[in-house]
Amino acid sequence: MSDQSSEQTLSNLGHEDRRFEPPEDLARDANVKEEAYERAAKDRLAFWEEAAERLTWGKRWDTVLDWDDPPFAKWYVGGTLNAAYNCIDRHVEAGTGDRVAIHWVGEPEDDRRTITYADLKDEVSKAANALIELGVGKGDPVAIYLPMIPETVISMLACARIGAVHTVVFGGFSSDALVTRINELDARVVITSDGGYRRGAPSALKPAVDEAMAKCPDVRTVLVVRRTGQDVDWNDDRDRWWHDVVDGQSTEHEPEQFDSEHPLYVMYTSGSTGKPKGILHTTGGYLAQSAWSHWAVFDLKPETDVYWCSADIGWVTGHSYIVYGPLANGATSVMYEGTPDTPHKGRWWEIIQEFKVSLFYTAPTAIRTCMKWGKEIPAEFDLSSLRILGSVGEPINPEAYIWYRENIGGNRTPVVDTWWQTETGAMMISPLPGVTAGKPGSAMRALPGISALVVDEQGEEVPDGSGGYLVLTEPWPAMLRTLWGDDERFKDTYWSRYPGWYFAGDGAKKDEDGDLWLLGRVDDVMNVSGHRLSTTEIESALISHPKVAESAVVGATDDTTGQAVVAFVILREEAGDGGQEIVEELRTHVAKEIGKIARPRQIMVVPELPKTRSGKIMRRLLRDVAENRDMGDVTTLTDSTVMDKIKTGMSGSKTDDE
Ligand code: WTA
Repeated sequence: MSDQSSEQTLSNLGHEDRRFEPPEDLARDANVKEEAYERAAKDRLAFWEEAAERLTWGKRWDTVLDWDDPPFAKWYVGGTLNAAYNCIDRHVEAGTGDRVAIHWVGEPEDDRRTITYADLKDEVSKAANALIELGVGKGDPVAIYLPMIPETVISMLACARIGAVHTVVFGGFSSDALVTRINELDARVVITSDGGYRRGAPSALKPAVDEAMAKCPDVRTVLVVRRTGQDVDWNDDRDRWWHDVVDGQSTEHEPEQFDSEHPLYVMYTSGSTGKPKGILHTTGGYLAQSAWSHWAVFDLKPETDVYWCSADIGWVTGHSYIVYGPLANGATSVMYEGTPDTPHKGRWWEIIQEFKVSLFYTAPTAIRTCMKWGKEIPAEFDLSSLRILGSVGEPINPEAYIWYRENIGGNRTPVVDTWWQTETGAMMISPLPGVTAGKPGSAMRALPGISALVVDEQGEEVPDGSGGYLVLTEPWPAMLRTLWGDDERFKDTYWSRYPGWYFAGDGAKKDEDGDLWLLGRVDDVMNVSGHRLSTTEIESALISHPKVAESAVVGATDDTTGQAVVAFVILREEAGDGGQEIVEELRTHVAKEIGKIARPRQIMVVPELPKTRSGKIMRRLLRDVAENRDMGDVTTLTDSTVMDKIKTGMSGSKTDDE
């Protein structure tokens, strides 16, 4: 177990006895009741067949699961469907075309767009026709690098509609990160915009694409959405305005039915080695589980609820719970472009008040930031429309859970703490709001149809009251199918530690009732503001700088962001003795190599790094330094004076992140 896990466990003490039972009306009217657990336990596959029946299929599947060649699963084998048709057309055909699909809110005040399901059908059809005109066909990869604007959703669904495979790259990633993803997938078309609004000003996106293009010779078209009106450089051979290519297209497009296992998208995420992993999701199973879980865990009543997930579409949460899940369910959603504090710190609560949001999904980091700003801010707004609050991305500490429930949820709303991963595609462990009591800090139990265990090193299930590693013992519909182009790494990373079981890389504890508490990563993956970052990837970025000889990166506990990136570097002789300038240079370098989100909060220039006798960097000790803790036992160090040298020889800086 990592140290982080034990700390988390300690901070949970004193709250374990608090339980919030489901409100009576919710328990009575919930979409999913207690019996679902029993039904799924009795016949898991029949349960997932029923979930898939909520979708509209071109041809029904012959076999629900093919698990003959583990870990390569096939779900709903022989079935065909179109994801975009399921997210749009079928609602229009069912007579709800006038229902709002997206209430889009731009960051500048009064910037609004209201998009009904009928509008979405027209827009997605036009974009699909435009992509076809640009030569994109079934199976072709398309890179999407856009801010939080409706065209992002439209682009994804247009790809899905024609069977193209999208890869959305988070706007906070650098040009270099874009290059890696475009080239690994061999994407020939990139969709971007001039920029978007963030923190009260237009921020640019296209320059990063322009820079990337020098290293992506095979990209033939960059489709550019005009969002901010900023000046952009233009390459006549390659760049096309979205409005020139899309606006004049026909609103008619007949969706083709694709195989259930047809690739839907690839989402890159950080792993414990340097290279990001391309997680492949396919169509039928992914859509079935993301839609079912959204409907079940948020108890979605599409006629009356207004749902808002504050994640960025560039992450898996945005894929499953802004785009595919909610739209497949015919939900009305809010989508917001900007930051929570622009133009004032009550912006989110103002949006909830304006649209009478009833279901809200965000990350613990955001909640902790709001806690810091003070409860007076949400108290100024009418939040009485809220009925369920969700949390995702990192462990929610009990204090944040209780603050969220009390100050945002008026002490009425259940809080659903949902554990899942880019790899799982959909929620796996979470309370059901009409069934399961909430305990602050606990994700409670595996959802119906999901088999999770907490095991020790040997793979034995741990007893209640103990901790271990989280594993998933049965395949599930939305599971990743492989890592793009790397079946071996897929097997090694997830399926080799406990043969036959999926190793999640998270520590977990079972309390005395058998309920689950997720404790964070047990590998070299950090979780900063709910974003996954790899320590080794940042170390490689630092070492690629000519002045750096060696580096070690740790995730240090941070009150707001959960963890923060702290780097230790040994400089090359010729670099001199460090100082503020080099630290700034290195921070900028990491931002350039990976993206601003990876920029270390703190870089310490040290004379040496603590290593075990076998030469492994002792990150635990470095984390103690980063967190100003007493170092404890250092006897396994090759040279136990190293830590003193580090502490006395340390120079560097602590810089507040933006
Ligand atoms: C962490 C985000 C505790 C976990 C959907 C996991 C959580 C990683 C929770 C996946 C939660 C996510 N409680 N930890 N409710 N949700 N995590 O791929 O460490 O960006 O392995 O997917 O986030 O992050 P990813």
